[in-house]
Amino acid sequence: MSEGTNFDYLFKVVLIGDSGVGKSNLLSRFTRNEFNLESKSTIGVEFATRSLNVDGKNIKAQIWDTGMPFSSHPPLVPQFSVTSDVGCFAKYEYSNDLPILRSWSGAIPGYHLSVCQIYASVIVDVSLSHRPISYYRGAVGALLVYDISKHATYVNVTRWLKELRDHADSNIVIMLVGNKSDLKHLRAVPTDEAKAFATENGLSFIETSALDASNVEGAFQTILTDIY
Ligand code: GTP
Ligand code: MG
Repeated sequence: MSEGTNFDYLFKVVLIGDSGVGKSNLLSRFTRNEFNLESKSTIGVEFATRSLNVDGKNIKAQIWDTGMPFSSHPPLVPQFSVTSDVGCFAKYEYSNDLPILRSWSGAIPGYHLSVCQIYASVIVDVSLSHRPISYYRGAVGALLVYDISKHATYVNVTRWLKELRDHADSNIVIMLVGNKSDLKHLRAVPTDEAKAFATENGLSFIETSALDASNVEGAFQTILTDIY
């Protein structure tokens, strides 16, 4: 009942934040209840959907995730492949300037890179700077993620906010997400400081752990409710 075309609203939500903060694992925890301790950087753009009930309405959330920055210029190649020496192969094709995973073998999407040794030469053409503007097109929500155990990822939140303000719709609902709350002994960003920053900038705020699943459901439920 919750999947397919049977929904009242479709909301596109993008995940942004520094590499390694846990965006892909938040996505897999929320959409498949899975976590991967050894996931590698996401290449290209992937998305997954899950439906939630908000105020009696069936809301389909389409969550977009990307890792490596890609050129905002038209792609030099219409499609490219990532292969590995351990029997993993993934094929990407550009659609609206975004590299979208089209087919793969050797592992499941989202995790294929964890078993892949990527040949750097394959991605040289497409890894330049920033997310392409089309990544943000149509997005009504953004989860801006940092890692509570890595202060630099919190400092960069300002940069990500600027990127959102430059490229996303001005009405986009933004939630600041301090991920890896399970790493209590390594905490480098005080909760109160991040909460105050969020308030000053008109963002909602939550701390999550994709590892132990705490607040992951709550983060998505809250942003979808705010959007609705
Ligand atoms: P890019 O794709 O490079 O942008 O990174 P990402 O933000 O998607 O990070 P990813 O989900 O791949 O996670 C990076 C590493 O952090 C992996 O080793 C994960 O297992 C780990 N990780 C993700 N979430 C958590 C968490 O909540 N707690 C802990 N302890 N580790 C996490
Ligand atoms: Mg990723």
